Amino acid sequence: MKDAVTTGAPVLILLGPPGAGKGTQARMLEETFGIVQLSTGDLLRAAVTAGTDAGKAAQAVMEAGELVSDEIVIAILRDRLADGDCAQGVILDGFPRTTVQAEALDALLSESQQQINAAISLEVDDAAMVTRISGRYTCGACGEGYHDEFKQPLQAGVCDKCDGTDMKRRADDNAETVGSRLVAYHAQTAPLIAYYDGKGSLKTVDAMLSIEAIAGNLNAIVEEAIA
Ligand code: AP5
Repeated sequence: MKDAVTTGAPVLILLGPPGAGKGTQARMLEETFGIVQLSTGDLLRAAVTAGTDAGKAAQAVMEAGELVSDEIVIAILRDRLADGDCAQGVILDGFPRTTVQAEALDALLSESQQQINAAISLEVDDAAMVTRISGRYTCGACGEGYHDEFKQPLQAGVCDKCDGTDMKRRADDNAETVGSRLVAYHAQTAPLIAYYDGKGSLKTVDAMLSIEAIAGNLNAIVEEAIA
């Protein structure tokens, strides 16, 4: 097994409920700092599309807005971290989501004498999340994210990044499933805020601000965390 992440390379975690802006901000941080964004949601959706055993097991769970088993998610993450592009550091978006996953990550990183630079909690109001999620769509070609109200492409229906025109909406982005995802977040993921606070690696940002304002605050946190 190769080292997951080169010793000394940055490891950043974005915590937050569905729709908090983890993916939006992680992609911006990737561009700014050149650190790979790694979303377990994206990895699981790719597994569903590819029809792998993990994808088949995960599909119904994701559509119900519940968490996929720790065993499946940890295995997928472990495989992805072994890819060469992760050696220079990673921004984890949507992982860990349970205490078992957080402990597995600690163990994985310790194999390469690595540790987490910062776990950044995006703080938002639940009520706003339904609006954010129900208006969300992404470019099917490059994955750039958009929103009906808050982030539209310069030309309607055409991706700013790659000129793609195949815009997609996620199967789990409906009001009913968002409710289940928020319940799962508060029951299983929110306790990680105390977990990382206890380790001295927790940072928080007000994620009710504009996308640009949050990005500015995050850049400052990340600059300090990886210095
Ligand atoms: P995942 O894909 O991780 O979804 P999520 O956590 O529910 O988060 P989202 O992707 O919905 O939201 P986000 O915070 O990235 O927000 P975004 O930037 O898109 O997980 C999906 C499922 O996979 C889970 O339910 C679970 O089943 C499974 N899964 C994944 N990881 C797992 C794990 N570790 N363990 C177990 N199961 C796992 O923003 C949302 C919208 O708002 C966008 O349209 C954006 O343009 C807009 N927006 C963003 N910021 C702002 C802002 N500041 N103001 C206004 N609009 C904004």
